[in-house]
Amino acid sequence: MRTQVAIIGGGPSGLLLSQLLHTRGIDSVVLERQTKAYVLQRIRAGVLEQGLLDLMTEAGVGERVYREGFAHDGTLLSYGDEMFRIDFTEHTDKPVMVYGQTEVTRDLYEAREATDGRLVFQVSDVEIVGADTDSPKVQYTVDGARQTLACDYVAGCDGFHGVSRKTIPETLRKDYEKVYPFGWLGVLSRTPPVHHELIYANSERGFALCSMRNEALSRYYIQCRLDDRPEDWSDQAFWDELRRRIPGEQAARLVTGPSIEKSIAPLRSFVTEPMRWGRLFLCGDAAHIVPPTGAKGLNTAASDVHYLYTGLRQVYEEGDAEGLDRYSERALARVWKTERFSWWFSTLMHRFPDQTEFEYKIQLAEIEFLRTNKAAQAAMAQNYVGLPY
Ligand code: APR
Ligand code: PHB
Repeated sequence: MRTQVAIIGGGPSGLLLSQLLHTRGIDSVVLERQTKAYVLQRIRAGVLEQGLLDLMTEAGVGERVYREGFAHDGTLLSYGDEMFRIDFTEHTDKPVMVYGQTEVTRDLYEAREATDGRLVFQVSDVEIVGADTDSPKVQYTVDGARQTLACDYVAGCDGFHGVSRKTIPETLRKDYEKVYPFGWLGVLSRTPPVHHELIYANSERGFALCSMRNEALSRYYIQCRLDDRPEDWSDQAFWDELRRRIPGEQAARLVTGPSIEKSIAPLRSFVTEPMRWGRLFLCGDAAHIVPPTGAKGLNTAASDVHYLYTGLRQVYEEGDAEGLDRYSERALARVWKTERFSWWFSTLMHRFPDQTEFEYKIQLAEIEFLRTNKAAQAAMAQNYVGLPY
């Protein structure tokens, strides 16, 4: 089998890239380890930047998100009983869109299938051969048979645990990492959101986040211990703890109900450099991870897709490799700024196990500063809605 771009990983990065390339007549094949059903049951964040919305529109999947998504032009921050709003429209020219990542992935699968996109599920033992030559290949096993996919380029969109990053020799690669000493316990429930905008809460008991998918579906998180397990937390214990971490007025309004999903995610900041080796290009979680505070994971993947798609178009349409040659540099410049924001917002809002009282006071002082200082709010708003590509 042969294609122009072999895409490893059928998560949002791989699917978006594949669909964008399709609009330009550039052929790709997506190789996914899991089944489609498995990919679509993963629950991830739900805040989309304008840059991602524009890419979705360009890919022909911008219709449902504008119909069913919710534009938010501000977000709330609380500390103890105090709450204040960061107004995006006052400081930027764009809102963000609340729409689940799972729905983005679903829309992309539908579009790929409607346009006869080649998607291969349940592949195993994926191996990238000759990435540093002019004729790379991807070998994989499906239905018990070993297959070879010859291509011009390989897009490594296979997430943090994929094979693509590990294909780049360790001597040529440098990883940067910060692991946080806590996790997020998330609950999805068929209840109306406590507030029409998101609330990021710093409390003495730890961080909490009130988010949503729509008027009848809420997504809440509380900071938890790394050794906690979801089954250790009854729904009642979760709601009780959430109430203690958000302002009293909000706690009193909180509508609770049975959880329909409950899971724990660790928090990590991670970047690998470079994001390119020969004809292999890393994209999304394969190259970097952010802690979820600020919902930058998918949005940062989208900016990589933008740079890679632009570079591939340049080479196929104009015979110019400049965009691909500068892919790693351009993608990383934006990745690091998003890493900084996600790290800053996480550090500001969580309780750290070894945090001194002095450090807690400093955290509160910074939140107070943000509450009253327009310049600080502008910096926060610009990062939250998404830095330009
Ligand atoms: N071969 C084929 N597919 C693989 C392999 C492999 N060896 N390893 C992993 N995959 C698949 C996974 O099953 C997954 O479906 O690659 C896909 C990667 O998808 P994601 O992990 O979702 O990563 P990405 O597409 O870059 O999406 C960006 O944004 O909010 C964040 O972490 C969140 O998923 C999110 C990400
Ligand atoms: C979510 O809705 O899942 C969500 C929203 C905002 C975040 C993180 C997660 O910062």
